[in-house]
Amino acid sequence: VSGAGAVPAFPVAGGQLVVGGVPLDRLAARVGSTPFFAYDRDAITRRVDRVRAALGGRIALKYAVKANPMPAVVQHLAGLVDALDVASSGEMQTALDTPMPAARISFAGPGKTDDELTRAVAAGVLVEVESAGEARRLVAAGERIGIGPRVAVRVNPDFQVKGSGMRMGGGPQQFGVDAEAVPELLGWLAAAGVEVEGFHVFAGSQNLSADILREAETRTVDLVLSLARHTPTPVRYVNLGGGFGIPYFEKDSPLDVEAVGGHLAGLVAERLDPELPGAEVVVELGRYLVGEAGVYVTRVVDRKVSRGRTYLVVDGGMHHQLAASGNFGQVIRRNYPIAVGSRMGAPADERATVVGCLCTPLDLLGDDVDLPRADVGDLLVLFQAGAYGLTASPTAFLGHPQPAEALV
Ligand SMILES: Cc1ncc(COP(=O)(O)O)c(C=O)c1O
Repeated sequence: VSGAGAVPAFPVAGGQLVVGGVPLDRLAARVGSTPFFAYDRDAITRRVDRVRAALGGRIALKYAVKANPMPAVVQHLAGLVDALDVASSGEMQTALDTPMPAARISFAGPGKTDDELTRAVAAGVLVEVESAGEARRLVAAGERIGIGPRVAVRVNPDFQVKGSGMRMGGGPQQFGVDAEAVPELLGWLAAAGVEVEGFHVFAGSQNLSADILREAETRTVDLVLSLARHTPTPVRYVNLGGGFGIPYFEKDSPLDVEAVGGHLAGLVAERLDPELPGAEVVVELGRYLVGEAGVYVTRVVDRKVSRGRTYLVVDGGMHHQLAASGNFGQVIRRNYPIAVGSRMGAPADERATVVGCLCTPLDLLGDDVDLPRADVGDLLVLFQAGAYGLTASPTAFLGHPQPAEALV
């Protein structure tokens, strides 16, 4: 495997990568076409178990559907986690189709339309409002259909979290209500007869530093406690965000989730429980639960040498797995871990550049990677593909067919 530092432990049997207990060649035959995404069901389950153990029994675990909204994945997770978070009416429908009760679903994200707000109120989903204007439209939506909305306030914190792949709190933001403006909004909601259930603070995503996450947890708890003094009714819901990252690149070290979870459990016991007794405390995670459980599998369709450089041209590309091409918000392009799926453990006897089938130099999946020799027909595997893969990629670009997805 090139980029082995970051690769999760998928088993290998007879030189083949094994996903969900099925050797890769057999899995490809079962799926019937390449490229495809495969998600290992047990790997997801194990990850949830590990997070739950790290958080202790007091803290609820919510899955952010945006990370991987494949209905089978969401169904599986619905049976493992305590709640689901959605970011659109499409995701809301996927979540409502699972056994997860509507009362355990929240809806966060900027730009919720009147239609989405109305559907969320009708469903009994908790709406995490991102602005005063959205709060007004939510209340109006409830009045139109005669159903009281369920409301929490998404707060844009008055601090920033360093080291996040994507910073989504602190400074000016399209996300959440600025912390200093929350008391006024709470006053308006109370006057409108709406009981606010609590707060959601999400500072950022893809953080691998336990120290930084622990500091963010402490500051988030401070912020929630100060805001709780402005609610006329007891706070019942505290969503502390998450931002737990996964290693994508060779030099990334995995997050010490036990350190982060243990700190949080202590904070809840010492700070939140005495002041907000009975409030549900939630950690909301997407990629940490599913990212490492997924692979993107694509077949070599051409091998060519151009002026001394060996190219492996595959039938997939950035239109399915944009992040691996380095075009999903990365500042510097680095290789995702990649392997020849049927030559696991074989010596890396060739340096090759793996490119997708799109007519753009951006479609680069592995730049000068050391791999066992791969020929036309071989399957290449890109790891860390379980989150923000297919649905975060420009699938319509160049009109290739949609890839398959399998939960195995
Ligand atoms: C509100 C909210 N919750 C959760 C997530 C999920 O982040 P991650 O997949 O990194 O855990 C995001 C990511 O954008 C988010 O905006």
